[in-house]
Formats: sequence, structure tokens, C-alpha cells
Amino acid sequence: MIDEKKVEKHYSQGSIIDLILGGIKSMGKTIKNINIDDLALVDEFHIGGLEATKNFINKLAIDPSHHILDIGCGIGGPSRYTAETFKCKVTGVDLTKEYIEVGNTICEWVGLSENISLQQASALYTPFENNQFDAAYMMHVGMNIKKKKELTDEIYRIIKPGSLFGIYDVMKTGEKDLIYPVPWAQTKETSEVNTPEYYKQCLSQSGFSICEETDKKDFALNYFKNMVEKINKKNGFPPLGIHILMGDNAKEKIKNSHINLKSGSIKPYEIIAKKN
Ligand SMILES: C[S@@+](CC[C@H](N)C(=O)[O-])C[C@H]1O[C@@H](n2cnc3c(N)ncnc32)[C@H](O)[C@@H]1O
Repeated sequence: MIDEKKVEKHYSQGSIIDLILGGIKSMGKTIKNINIDDLALVDEFHIGGLEATKNFINKLAIDPSHHILDIGCGIGGPSRYTAETFKCKVTGVDLTKEYIEVGNTICEWVGLSENISLQQASALYTPFENNQFDAAYMMHVGMNIKKKKELTDEIYRIIKPGSLFGIYDVMKTGEKDLIYPVPWAQTKETSEVNTPEYYKQCLSQSGFSICEETDKKDFALNYFKNMVEKINKKNGFPPLGIHILMGDNAKEKIKNSHINLKSGSIKPYEIIAKKN
């Protein structure tokens, strides 16, 4: 069992909103004219940023009548992309109170509060009724969850029969220990990286069938290559970037993720499953 309080502590920075406001100012913008594409630089907290979100979310067959669940929504970038693109309703849950507060503030800035509600909750014990959502997804969240079968059972309970559950997580591909810190954990105490086979086993045991799988290793290698080039060219991080969500040792966390990926220990991987 991973201690959820420790996970929340890992992600909380205490000053995220001020850092984002500072970044917006450095870009010569304000909260009145910032848009979700600008904000995607900081609020898409996973490998591949907005491009990864677009590729992934578009596999979920979402339409405007849908109510979608974003599990481990972070500060809400993927929720805003989904609500804005498909004109649907999105509910997000996340363990980290500061992320929820920042996420709801940003939704107000960009006029999406009507369609999006972000709330603090664990993915393992959500406050939702059975068969409530038309689809659910999670992006880079499972690496903090040891009880994967409890997770897939809970998602199975709250989505409608016949609806899709998409997972885009960093998964285990080798036996080598990971080098820490990484963006999702300071040490292995709050990290639980599993193989795609294990995810699929839990999904099947909960009652899902597997519709589609995508290996994102090459995509990720390219993403890190571009990121390193940009950082070297600008001699540091840009005004808005996911480094804001990673604290003082952001550089080390990004570097270690890249090393773990190149060494074959991990890779990002997508699974789309259907509730039978
Ligand atoms: C790397 S961030 C990804 C955020 C968001 N999905 C995105 O892609 O921008 C991982 C998020 O998962 C959340 N998280 C981790 N374990 C969780 C759990 N058991 N229940 C809900 N949220 C969780 C963390 O608080 C954090 O916001």
C-alpha cells in the first residue's frame, strides 16, 4: 500500500499558482488573454504534453452529451482539452488539494468552470454512484498506485456498461531498479511501476476487455530529445513548463526519467479498455 498522504506531499509545492502567474507575466500575457494552448506548457503533466493528450483522448469516442471522468487530473490540462474540444462535461479527481485548487482557478480564467468540476478524492475510493460516467481516463497516475486491481474495480463500478477506460501510464519494461527521483516520486517508497501485462490482467479480472494498446517509447524518446535541446538552447527552463510542478529538483527528475527510459526500465504505454 502506498501512503496517499506521502503522494500528496510529493506533488504539493505551496506556490504553484504564483509560479504560473509569474510565467504568464514573463510571456507578456495576463489571465484575461491566456488560452489553453499557452497553459498546456505547464498543465499537461505527462510525457508528450498536449500532443500526447490529443492522441490519447481522441481514442475515447467522446461526444458532447458525455460526462467524462479524469482520474488523477492534476491541475486539469487534459480535462480542459477534453471539455473544450468535445463540448462535454468533465469531472476530475486528484489526491493533491493544491492541484485541485489551482486547476479550478485556471478553469475560471479560461471560462470552463461550467463544464469542468475538479475535486479532491482518491482514485481508489471515489464518491461517485455506480454506472455514472460515459468514459474515464487516467494519464501518468498509476505509477503512484500499488492496488491496481482495486483501481480497475473502482473504475469498472463507476463507468457505464459499454464505455471506455483509457490508461496512459509509465509502465515497467525491465528488471532494473529505477533511478530516483522521478517526476512522480522522490524514492521507490511511493512508486509502483507495473508491466503492461499486469495492467491488462487487472483490467480483465475486473471485467474489461482490451480494445487497443500503443507503445509510446519512440514518441517519448523524441519528446525528451526535443526538451533537452530546448533547455540547452535557452540555457534553462521556459517561463511556463511542467518543471513548475516538480519543485527544486525538476532537472534531476527529468534527467532520471530520460535515463530510465533509455536504459529500457520503463516506457509510456497506452491501453484502451471497454467495460463489458
Ligand atoms: C504526474 S501527475 C499527472 C496529472 C495529470 N493526469 C496530467 O497528466 O496532467 C500524477 C497525478 O496523480 C495524482 N494521484 C496519484 N495517486 C492518486 C490516487 N490514488 N488518486 C487520485 N490521484 C492520484 C497526483 O496527485 C498527481 O496529480
